[in-house]
Amino acid sequence: MSSPGTEKPVIEAVSQTFDSLMREDRVFPPPPEFAAKAYIGSAEAYERMYAESIADPNAFWAKAAGELEWFEPWTSVLEGSGADATWFAGGKLNLSHNCVDRHARGARKDKVALLWEGELCGEDGRPKEIRKLTYGQLHEEVQRFANVLKAQGVKKGDRVAIYMGLGPELAIALLSCARIGAIHSVIFGGFAAHAISDRVNDSDCQIILTQDISYRRGGEVKLKQIVDEAMAKCPNVRRVIVYQRAPHAASGISMTPGRDVWWHQEMAKVSGFCPAEPMDSEDPLYILYTSGTTGKPKGLVHTTGGYSVQTYLTSKYIFDLKEEDVYWCTADIGWVTGHSYVVYGPLQNGATVLMYEGAPNYPANDRFWQIVDDHKVSIFYTAPTAIRAFIKWGDDWVKKHDLSSLRLLGTVGEPINPEAWMWYHREIGKERCPIVDTWWQTETGSILIAPIPGAVSTKPGSATKPFFGVAPQIVTKEGEPVPAGQGGLLVISKPWPSIARTIWGDHERYVQTYFSEVKGHDGKGIYFTGDGARRDADGCFWLMGRVDDVINVSGHRLGTMEIESALVAHGKVAEAAVVGRPDELKGQAIAAFVTLEEGNEPTEELRQELRKWVAKEIGALARPDDLRFTQMLPKTRSGKIMRRLLRELATTGEVKGDTTTLEDFGVLAKLRENDE
Ligand code: WTA
Repeated sequence: MSSPGTEKPVIEAVSQTFDSLMREDRVFPPPPEFAAKAYIGSAEAYERMYAESIADPNAFWAKAAGELEWFEPWTSVLEGSGADATWFAGGKLNLSHNCVDRHARGARKDKVALLWEGELCGEDGRPKEIRKLTYGQLHEEVQRFANVLKAQGVKKGDRVAIYMGLGPELAIALLSCARIGAIHSVIFGGFAAHAISDRVNDSDCQIILTQDISYRRGGEVKLKQIVDEAMAKCPNVRRVIVYQRAPHAASGISMTPGRDVWWHQEMAKVSGFCPAEPMDSEDPLYILYTSGTTGKPKGLVHTTGGYSVQTYLTSKYIFDLKEEDVYWCTADIGWVTGHSYVVYGPLQNGATVLMYEGAPNYPANDRFWQIVDDHKVSIFYTAPTAIRAFIKWGDDWVKKHDLSSLRLLGTVGEPINPEAWMWYHREIGKERCPIVDTWWQTETGSILIAPIPGAVSTKPGSATKPFFGVAPQIVTKEGEPVPAGQGGLLVISKPWPSIARTIWGDHERYVQTYFSEVKGHDGKGIYFTGDGARRDADGCFWLMGRVDDVINVSGHRLGTMEIESALVAHGKVAEAAVVGRPDELKGQAIAAFVTLEEGNEPTEELRQELRKWVAKEIGALARPDDLRFTQMLPKTRSGKIMRRLLRELATTGEVKGDTTTLEDFGVLAKLRENDE
């Protein structure tokens, strides 16, 4: 994790959250009426299953895998360890088959698989577009689009980039790739052209799937135009398949002859029959880029068997998914949460999955509650950032709607502050819905720490207990266990099936990043999460935020170095340092410190220009909230930027911490001067 130019990770009390968590002692046992119907309905049942899963993980995971369909059985459950673990070797399966065919051929043929609501509303403020696809219909669509991909020459192992809005076609795109063994690489629709071309080129995608526009907060996002801009830097892309989302040709969309084709026209040319390709358990399923501590996002590679099994089982037990549930995870499919818990996990369970295209505050602040009420949503899974926005908008928006269909709530993506947890529990869950605070990462593939809702008591702000087979530990940098109650580094000591197997094209970086930072007594690397945490006397985990140079803005993961690289790419910037500071709504906000090239004036205009520049280079989500000009940056004697000092300054306006390694003390006075 120690890339040049950065400090070593330190356990920093992400102070405010940590202080409030230290004082939190409320406990909420599972509601008895919930526990009575749950898959796992008592603390004893959880403890017993957990103990068994740790004592004999192979037996536990083999049993779980047996609930899915395999074309050929595996010959061994787990082989190897650490960065070289493989799961279900020798087995053949197809995730698209387990998500769709298995249900479409059986009793769920006419059950709604995808229930989608578009953002557009009529003059009465009511939604204009609702689409329902049964498992039978989804089966047909997925086979047909898989044939479109084949007709375009896509073969097993080829990479396909996907840059689309949230709609059924996006899910169909993923499932179609999985069906023929093409490796999808979904790029979040909020990323800018530059971020697209970087990702497309890194994994050499030759096909990109997109759509003309998507709707967001009443406006149009011109996805195809952004792709066109990106394609100028992607010489290897030979085909762009464009789904037409607008009811009639959207303005400003042009099709490049020989390269661009329309989704619906291609669909009309092919048959609706395409058998699922038997995939080796360790064949790559997808690549998903995420931010780390260097300037370049890493393409994490997930493989088929272990990922299928663990997303299936966590969905079943953590969301207690039942036949009659209407399940809604509000995440975009551009993030890992959307991959695992909008598409693959719930569909493997044969659930009815709700998808909503747009913003929570369009046309008004109660859109989400209106959706819950209209579609009788029973399981609702969202991010703490969204909850904090709902609190800010006021309870009246919630009270207008009947939320009695809800039976389980979830959160993901960042630590939830106890106040937000309590509001969620009271105002949305009406004190009868368990809340599952789910901790995991793009790298882990599925949830690793979360309460099993019918079994484990919840505590506001704690993700509570590990999932079956998962062994989290809190250790020092030297790998020594930290006593209960004290903060340390969160590591996962045993292999689990859904871990990403590598970084695309750079296995060495994978080993370096995840298996070199913390070592066990045998000298072997233990998976390091990059998060700080503590474990309380009851064995519950309290996540304290990142200990590296990754920041979490509204649940979106960003690398400070990534934003710095974008800033220094601007001709007027000499040096830049970016840090996160606490923000009430977003969890963390982005603070940038910038020194200018000789001859440039630090004007307000330039400040705004640079903020816009970052949005244009990476995407609006990376736009710095604060941008300060400074004459120098605080550095150590070896020339590393002391981000810790900048974090302190951005957070409290002062620097009180240890400055002994600072090279030039004058820089602090200068920084304060510039801090008008
Ligand atoms: C943070 C999102 C506290 C954490 C699934 C992690 C959380 C990073 C939680 C991964 C949670 C995620 N409580 N922190 N329940 N869930 N995080 O890869 O810092 O986008 O390392 O995956 O989000 O973010 P990623």
